[in-house]
Amino acid sequence: MPALVAVGAQWGDEGKGKVVDWIAAQADVVVRFHGGNNAGHTLWVEGEKTVLHVVPAGVLQPGTTNVIGPGVVVDPVVLLSEIDELTRRGVLKDPSRVRVSGRAHVIFPWNCSLDKARDEARKERAIGTTGRGIGPTYEDKVARRGIRVADLLEAGSLRGAIDELAAAKNRELREVHGWPTLDADELYDEAVAWGRRLGPYVEHTTPLLDRALREGKNVLFEGAQGTFLDIDHGTYPYVTSSNCVAGTACTGAGVGPTRIERVLGITKAYTTRVGGGPFPTEETGEAGDTLRAAGDEFGATTGRPRRCGWLDAVMLREAAVVNGFTGLALNKMDVLRGQREIPIATAYRVDGKLTHDFPMTLSEVERAEPVYETWAGFSQDLCGVRRFEDLPDAARRYVDRVEALAGIPVELISVGPGRDETVVRTSPF
Ligand code: IMP
Repeated sequence: MPALVAVGAQWGDEGKGKVVDWIAAQADVVVRFHGGNNAGHTLWVEGEKTVLHVVPAGVLQPGTTNVIGPGVVVDPVVLLSEIDELTRRGVLKDPSRVRVSGRAHVIFPWNCSLDKARDEARKERAIGTTGRGIGPTYEDKVARRGIRVADLLEAGSLRGAIDELAAAKNRELREVHGWPTLDADELYDEAVAWGRRLGPYVEHTTPLLDRALREGKNVLFEGAQGTFLDIDHGTYPYVTSSNCVAGTACTGAGVGPTRIERVLGITKAYTTRVGGGPFPTEETGEAGDTLRAAGDEFGATTGRPRRCGWLDAVMLREAAVVNGFTGLALNKMDVLRGQREIPIATAYRVDGKLTHDFPMTLSEVERAEPVYETWAGFSQDLCGVRRFEDLPDAARRYVDRVEALAGIPVELISVGPGRDETVVRTSPF
């Protein structure tokens, strides 16, 4: 089973970094296919913390090639600083282990400013963007005026493209938002320097992936954000600006759907969200504070406290459908330790009507009242557990129930942040 897509089943932050790092031990190639440095994947290896925003989380496994596909938007400053840090630590010795598609679009600093200025202007309807310029860069791409990574390598034609975009962006920054403008000459010099430094990492990644798949290599497609932040399937407009569902691996990496055999959905044993938008099972009081403290729920990219609540099986079922999950990874099971009772939402009541399906419209999701069933908690420390049979009875019953509600087998259970703190029921490849 050489091609596996791993995506988030909730609003991001499901612990994809840990799962991808763990699966990458068996992978030859790990591919990012959408989003940008709005993602923050936290990895704990031998007590050392690494947070990656652009480079695929497979990079910590020495045998892997890590690909940034055409569907990703790349901030060269962030990418180069991750490459520098990984090189300094001796993790990345050979540039051929990180491959960047020349077709990926470049995030310029004016788009970070515009992201923040526009979200501020939305006032109480703010999306709570990470301010990394992701949305405006995807807008430029779709408007067919974007600058791509390969363009950074062509200093001659780059000049005109930067001048044109800078004029339009500076006009909006100054005249609409009253924000400081950016100097096109300085940006051009910087962009040429980015191109010079990124050159050894740039490659046409489509044939590379085709070769890997033909040779039967294990290819892992690493999702960012999560299903309910997807631009089409999420809680629009409180979403990110890319598709996040498993199908995006095909368009964002450049492989046909017939080549993907398995899709792993990654979910926490509870739910979190950062930024604005509805969250039916959110706990705003003490229960939420307890989950936040136990799970250290603060954003890896912005440090913002995450909103916390119970597991939502209505969302999980919708995620299973739109992604075609073949298995689930249930993360942060250890965080539920000490809860006397653990609620799971199995349905919603919307305007008094019971529904088991995730609603179509935002206002229905905003009005949805979760219908809970409650499961017994457990007090044992799970971090040393490696076999399903060794989990406490209550934890096993919880996992069985999640599996039954989602209609998808739970293949991995995470019992701590470390690479090995994982209960494996089915091998991913
Ligand atoms: P943007 O992608 O920066 O435009 O942010 C749009 C929304 O998606 C905001 O609510 C962000 O908090 C959220 N978001 C974006 N990336 C992530 C992520 O990797 N994890 C969790 N939330 C994210």
